[in-house]
Amino acid sequence: MPNVAVIGSQWGDEGKGKIVDLLCERFDVVARFQGGHNAGHTVKFADQHFALRLIPSGILHPGKLCLLGNGMVIDPEALLDEIEKLRALGVSIDGNLKISDSAHCILPYHKALDLAREAAAGGGKIGTTGRGIGPAYETKVGRFGIRVADLLDPDVLRTRIEFACSEKNPLLQTVYGCETFDPEKLYEAYIRYGEVLADRITNGTLWINEQIRSRKSVMFEGAQGTMLDIDHGTYPFVTSSNTVVGGICTGLGVAPKHINRVIGVAKAYTTRVGSGAFPTELLGEEGEHLRRRGNEFGTVTGRPRRTGWLDLPVLRTSVMLNGIDEIALTKLDVLDEIAEIPVCTGYNVRGKVWKTFPSFAVAHGDYKPEYRTLKGWAQSTEGTTSYDALPQAAKDYIRFVEDEIEAKVTIVSTGPRREETIVR
Ligand code: GDP
Ligand code: IMO
Ligand code: MG
Repeated sequence: MPNVAVIGSQWGDEGKGKIVDLLCERFDVVARFQGGHNAGHTVKFADQHFALRLIPSGILHPGKLCLLGNGMVIDPEALLDEIEKLRALGVSIDGNLKISDSAHCILPYHKALDLAREAAAGGGKIGTTGRGIGPAYETKVGRFGIRVADLLDPDVLRTRIEFACSEKNPLLQTVYGCETFDPEKLYEAYIRYGEVLADRITNGTLWINEQIRSRKSVMFEGAQGTMLDIDHGTYPFVTSSNTVVGGICTGLGVAPKHINRVIGVAKAYTTRVGSGAFPTELLGEEGEHLRRRGNEFGTVTGRPRRTGWLDLPVLRTSVMLNGIDEIALTKLDVLDEIAEIPVCTGYNVRGKVWKTFPSFAVAHGDYKPEYRTLKGWAQSTEGTTSYDALPQAAKDYIRFVEDEIEAKVTIVSTGPRREETIVR
């Protein structure tokens, strides 16, 4: 069984959790490689409903092994909270959850800085999830982060926390007028987290490569989406990690030859949370309809998501950046009632038509989206499980997307639950 990556193709919340859960049965290991508890992955089946933030969606399947990779930023408090919540729902979490010793920790000063900067930015804010993600990646790259392994070494942990506080406290107090943190209290909390998590902490890179060498199959679960990638997204309105497929190599220590297939997850329309360019956004009643019909409210923050038409240049860019072999097209049912469905096919930038997303022109507002309007199907596709049973206009919509982005749609999702899916 090949190793497969599941990557968000738009601005996140494409339904990655549902797709990972759906395909999970065929894999032995599910690994996250970037991000933290800014992610919110929903899994629904029968009458069960789970919201995963840090833990791979594979945890819901008994017998699957899950790894939090070195490329992640982990808030131990959020992790322990998530473990407890899942256990309360009957999910078994024992030896099936491993944590890479070189993942970085989120500390309370990261969260405080995230919130303080957003507040100070006013109208220019990014609209982050406020979880401390950006500041945690900053300290990682600044080479004074605290890694998961450090939680197991009292001397190192104390020294690093003291050093970090000597910089973060004046910054918080002087620049942002915020409360400071007592390094001793942080030390006591984090050394305790280390004790509680010790049994799960492992050399994640060696561990996953051993799994691959012993012919176990791995699913790489992406978080966020391609347009939120720190290098390739709509900078600066992005997250702070590499959400594209390349993030797997660095975020797990897995060589590219071990990523055998890439599934891009895409909504049949587009959503975005937070600030930044969204050229196909619908600000009026049509946008409100998509939000209501698609229940477009953040899994993590509950914020209403911005909604708009499908953006093919975004998807083409995503296919290119990730080497997408196949697309899982989600939330087709949300378009059921729309009589005519515009789809953005390209961008006109000063007379030249761009077929991929023209990031610079979009950042400067110097563009005009071009649309093609497709016929709606005006009938319910909710819960449909067979491709043949789809209305012809829905098939035409899917076919149009496939032709335009040059990738096959192999999975069509017609409802939030595992069962509400067409696998072609
Ligand atoms: P993720 O972050 O990519 O895992 O996506 P989220 O879970 O944050 O957001 C996707 C939302 O859409 C969740 O509420 C899902 O339950 C829901 N969902 C997923 N697929 C479908 C679908 O095909 N139809 C409908 N109506 N809802 C879906
Ligand atoms: P999943 O995995 C949608 C967005 C935030 C903000 C920007 C930066 O559920 O698809 P951050 O807290 O990461 O510094 O915020 O990125 N964002 C997401 N949007 N889905 C997500 O995750 C997101 N994670 C972060 O809204 O615009
Ligand atoms: Mg989400």
